[in-house]
Amino acid sequence: MSSKSYLIIGGTSGIGECIVEKLKTPENTLYVGSRSAVGVFNKNIKNFKVDVNKKSQLDLLPDELDGLVYCPGTVTLRPFQSLREEHFRHDMEINYFGALSVLKQALPYLKKSANGASVVLFSTVAVQLGMPYHASIAGAKGAIEGLTRSLAAEWAPKIRVNAVAPSLTDTPLSQHLLNTDQKRQNSAERHPLKRVGKPEDIAEMVVYLLSDKASWITGQILAIDGGEKGRQIGQTDWQGIFDRIDAMPMRRAEMGEKAREEK
Ligand SMILES: NC(=O)c1ccc[n+]([C@@H]2O[C@H](COP(=O)([O-])OP(=O)(O)OC[C@H]3O[C@@H](n4cnc5c(N)ncnc54)[C@H](OP(=O)(O)O)[C@@H]3O)[C@@H](O)[C@H]2O)c1
Repeated sequence: MSSKSYLIIGGTSGIGECIVEKLKTPENTLYVGSRSAVGVFNKNIKNFKVDVNKKSQLDLLPDELDGLVYCPGTVTLRPFQSLREEHFRHDMEINYFGALSVLKQALPYLKKSANGASVVLFSTVAVQLGMPYHASIAGAKGAIEGLTRSLAAEWAPKIRVNAVAPSLTDTPLSQHLLNTDQKRQNSAERHPLKRVGKPEDIAEMVVYLLSDKASWITGQILAIDGGEKGRQIGQTDWQGIFDRIDAMPMRRAEMGEKAREEK
């Protein structure tokens, strides 16, 4: 197996931590940054402190990077009336501007990857689905989706850029949404696959997108969501729609009949 270098921002918790676990092999070198990152610094793992909100410099990047994953994110759920400008700005700062800063710094190293590099960003299923109380986070992640497609076009063929869009996943970030049995059950129920996500569900896709197996995939937003995005389609009353279409000529005929009677 060839050796690769990966930068994982936000690799110390939840999905990012799981990605680090999966990429941890004797061949790979992982650069893992977060505000709380401490301790591990050896040949294969280099943990370092970084606060993406403070535009920290990523000083210890290697000569070339084969992959970058940007994990920091937020879950700000409020009705639109109670969202203040600071909520929108905070969500944009961490989800979007933080990613921009890291991408700008990492680009020269990604360009040097011998076999082409892969970038994975994070959106949320709420962007495509449209969910109440998600205006702030969906706005910030919507920006990530646009950025993903733009950079995929701009950086091809050397660098692939994709995003994953999870639904509710059991991590420290989402604990306030899963901290009672009732909440957990309700959340599981609204997914066609009847459970919330596990960090591994998402990490598997990220690791795949980083790998050479995904070498013909770029510019995609992949929903990893227990069927949540398809739920609206699943719930659409197609039979009712077909019945109405079938009935239309009859209705028109009925209406014509009625009009003639009225004359
Ligand atoms: N969990 C869900 O239900 C869910 C659903 C949809 C989308 N997502 C998205 O998936 C991604 C990963 O979420 P997660 O649930 O794994 O989150 P998480 O458990 O909160 O992990 C986030 C990671 O980012 C780091 N981080 C946060 N703020 C940072 C900052 N200012 N500078 C540097 N690092 C920072 C955290 O470490 P420190 O705190 O030590 O800095 C941590 O390592 C996020 O983008 C999130 O929006 C999650």
